[in-house]
Amino acid sequence: MQELSLYPPSPEFSARAHVPDLDAYQALRRRAAEHPEEFWAEMAEKEVHWFEKWHHVFEWHPPFVKWFVGAKTNASYNCLDRHMARRGAKPAILFEGEPGDRRVLTYAELHQHVCRFANALKARGYRAGDRAIIYMPMVPESVVAMLACARLGITHSVVFGGFSAEALKARIQDLDAHLVITADGGWRRGREVRLKDAADEALAGCPGVRDVIVLRRTGGQVRMQEGRDQWWHDFEAGAAPDCPAEPLDAEHPLFVLYTSGTTGKPKGILHTTGGYLTYVTCTMKWVFDLKEDDIYWCTADIGWVTGHSYLVYGPLSAGATCVMYEGAPDYPAWDRWWEIVARYRVTIFYTSPTAIRALLKQGDAWPAKHDLSSLRLLGSVGEPINPAAWEWYHRVIGHGRCPIVDTWWQTETGGILIAPMPGAVPLKPGSATLPMPGIEAEVVDFHGNPVPDGTEGFLVIRRPWPSMLRTIWGDPQRYEQQYFSRIPGIYFTGDAARRDADGYFWILGRVDDVMNVSGHRLSTMEVESALVRHPAVAEAAVVGKPHEITGQAVCCFVTLKQGYEPGDGLAKELRQWVAHEIGAFARPEEIRFTEALPKTRSGKIMRRLLREIVTSHTVTGDVTTLEDMGVITRLASQHDED
Ligand code: WTA
Repeated sequence: MQELSLYPPSPEFSARAHVPDLDAYQALRRRAAEHPEEFWAEMAEKEVHWFEKWHHVFEWHPPFVKWFVGAKTNASYNCLDRHMARRGAKPAILFEGEPGDRRVLTYAELHQHVCRFANALKARGYRAGDRAIIYMPMVPESVVAMLACARLGITHSVVFGGFSAEALKARIQDLDAHLVITADGGWRRGREVRLKDAADEALAGCPGVRDVIVLRRTGGQVRMQEGRDQWWHDFEAGAAPDCPAEPLDAEHPLFVLYTSGTTGKPKGILHTTGGYLTYVTCTMKWVFDLKEDDIYWCTADIGWVTGHSYLVYGPLSAGATCVMYEGAPDYPAWDRWWEIVARYRVTIFYTSPTAIRALLKQGDAWPAKHDLSSLRLLGSVGEPINPAAWEWYHRVIGHGRCPIVDTWWQTETGGILIAPMPGAVPLKPGSATLPMPGIEAEVVDFHGNPVPDGTEGFLVIRRPWPSMLRTIWGDPQRYEQQYFSRIPGIYFTGDAARRDADGYFWILGRVDDVMNVSGHRLSTMEVESALVRHPAVAEAAVVGKPHEITGQAVCCFVTLKQGYEPGDGLAKELRQWVAHEIGAFARPEEIRFTEALPKTRSGKIMRRLLREIVTSHTVTGDVTTLEDMGVITRLASQHDED
């Protein structure tokens, strides 16, 4: 990735921006660095409503942190009730379903929906400390379910609707949830994604689940289990539209979101209430420069962290009007998103590099058919954006007029940590630019020592920040080991990066066994475990392979058990198997059958070599620890035979 050109903010943009120039940005950073307690206390007072104030801004006993200790607040209250006086009639959600159905929910209407659903949950005995799984399509009721849980202090875990029954089951069990909120299905490319069927399959292994609430979305046939399953509309019938928000401890668990780690078992990342809310609300202004009249659209699914922080909690807490779209960008045609931008006069648009590359490939004629003049700011998240895609996004979608905020963050960080403040920071295509105030990002070597500018190293964050994860659900040891042991006491991101002479950060990708496919995190081990559950597979090794659109694609090396023959039929079956075990987004691009996998003498699979094979088709690295050199030459030459 090289530096192409510099894009300073336009004077018109800066003139109206929350942070109008570099001096203002530096002043914020300086204050946050020198007086973190004062700084964050001021932000918390300004951006969040508290029922009771804290007695300590934060307590840091590495690796554990608490923010706004002793304070009481409620995320649902902050996203709804506090807006009633000023914004009751303001649209909170502009919803468009894939089939073309449309709904507008004002803040007052959303408040009523949330209260009714919360009252129904309360009547059924759910209260603070309980856990709920939300497995829903992208419809306003998924937001209602999240905010109703938050209102009562029920910790929610949203499972992306693209995940399989197996993945859902593992999450229900790990969280020990008694409540599952789902739907008959949702729409994707004109087809029904049958969520209740998958939920039924998962629930067969979850005897602890007491209630399953099912929203009717598609009208498809579903099986309802007597005594356990209920339709959403029956469940909330008669519930009162007013339900006071529980004053919850600032450290009350708001949600758990499962993400891929370096082992086969997903990690339940825990986020709490007060610090999270403070940080995501602040970054709506710092990064998205949100104003009262903006129409904000984040295309992420609520099942990912971007959907949590920048489709639900951040924008609603900040009082924004949000567009929410259920379906695919290419349905019925490749201009669906641009049609939506034009229809709702979207001003801020936030999406992923994968989507941008896919749209770019379809040509300029699609966006040209629509009036995109309402756009004033564009955003990118989830993976590095290559300069060519950046330039296209800037020129063809933003008409050269809109700054692009390339936002670096993670499920674990809760909110955006490195990104430009668009009115202040000149942009460099491909760089996430500079850290937010209070974020002490650094590039270091193995020992935690800063490396010189321009040198690659590990990206770490030196100090705690309000929206950081608190632990891994049920596994504090893994939390410490994963994030705070590589360099003791310092948050290890798992990403490699380089900082240039201007202090700009260039994110280079993961240094662990985590792949990034279409901006979705996937662990190589997760796919390997799925593969070896198939009766034909003896061993499997999985690596990410560079891919033009999705960034990386899943490439699997597989050895077969006695009696099984490699072939196209089996390769197809294995790809389908992984999709069924994890979810369609994990479907491997390629299955390569091999007689043996390269291993060290101690028996560890050398993924590094496999990665080299799929990227360069040759092996140059150190192979002295390799057990059987012959395997490598055979694997590397296999490509030429393909
Ligand atoms: C990658 C998504 C480069 C990175 C919010 C990180 C990025 C992982 C960017 C987290 C970006 C995210 N530039 N890489 N702007 N944003 N990443 O947990 O490798 O799904 O560690 O959170 O995505 O993925 P996650």
